[in-house]
Amino acid sequence: MKTTLTKIIALLNMKGGVGKTTTSVNLAAGFAFLGYKVLLIDMDPQANSTDVLLDIRQEEIFLNEDVIDAIGNRNTKQLDALLDELSNYEKKEIFLDQMLENPALTTTYKTKFDNLHIIPSRLELANVEKAIRNGNEAMHLRLFNIIDGLDGQYDFIFIDCPPIINTLTINVINVVDEIIAPIKIDKGAEKGLLMTIRELIAIANSYRLHIPIRPLFTMVNRNNTDRDRIAALSRISNDVIKPIVPTVRMQAKAITQSGYENKAVINDPKLNVGLDYKEVVDYLSKEWSEA
Ligand SMILES: Nc1ncnc2c1ncn2[C@@H]1O[C@H](COP(=O)(O)OP(=O)(O)OP(=O)(O)O)[C@@H](O)[C@H]1O
Ligand SMILES: [Mg+2]
Repeated sequence: MKTTLTKIIALLNMKGGVGKTTTSVNLAAGFAFLGYKVLLIDMDPQANSTDVLLDIRQEEIFLNEDVIDAIGNRNTKQLDALLDELSNYEKKEIFLDQMLENPALTTTYKTKFDNLHIIPSRLELANVEKAIRNGNEAMHLRLFNIIDGLDGQYDFIFIDCPPIINTLTINVINVVDEIIAPIKIDKGAEKGLLMTIRELIAIANSYRLHIPIRPLFTMVNRNNTDRDRIAALSRISNDVIKPIVPTVRMQAKAITQSGYENKAVINDPKLNVGLDYKEVVDYLSKEWSEA
């Protein structure tokens, strides 16, 4: 299926809040910092990585009188329009939902990081997902058509996915070389990982694809309990599951602060969690250069 040497990696886990977006932004920024040409595709209607990379601030939303009116009038159409307008910070972007409907519109945008571009997302992506699902037979190749049109100009493409398995996930499975599944070490991590693996294998099987899944353990506490659980979760290591050896520690203050400031922790050598992400980048770049 692939036509270029671009390495395409999805950040995917059907569980929410496990670190998909944080990892997408930091790995993309990390590889861009090494000098690679990198694209991040934001596949989530929540558009969290778009907000970070295009430096969109949330604070103004509730200061806007139109928002207050729309809530007062229980007007969801007006709220949708306002949410999309607030995301569209320079009022000139073409978003992923529009490209999925018409790949000829494909455009990538520079971000605040050198060598890192983005295809941005917005709420409307959720509606387009429904339209694609109910559409014609090429529904699983919409994302492929977009990436095909990029003509191999990127070394790496990272895809930040929503916490759900849907038609967009099927599109992702049909373009990726590998999946990184961030796993938050908390109650339910084992079941969550197994359910995600099961779903991804089922989709890949139906298209006769073999895509390695790399669990990445995030929000790890440096104690014996977490160490033992990670050891147990890493027991499976074969052609299907390839756990990433370095892990990313829990460091709430640094992550929250960088989130508010729309920054990536990987570029800050003073932050331990940034050094963890750097180790992950170095580990992956070694794995991929040996492949
Ligand atoms: N290493 C970390 N230490 C502490 N907090 C973290 C860490 N990584 C992520 N978080 C926090 O955990 C929350 C979820 O992270 P993130 O948004 O990256 O997850 P996600 O899987 O993309 O979520 P969603 O499923 O909603 O898209 C955020 O509040 C983030 O700030
Ligand atoms: Mg996310």
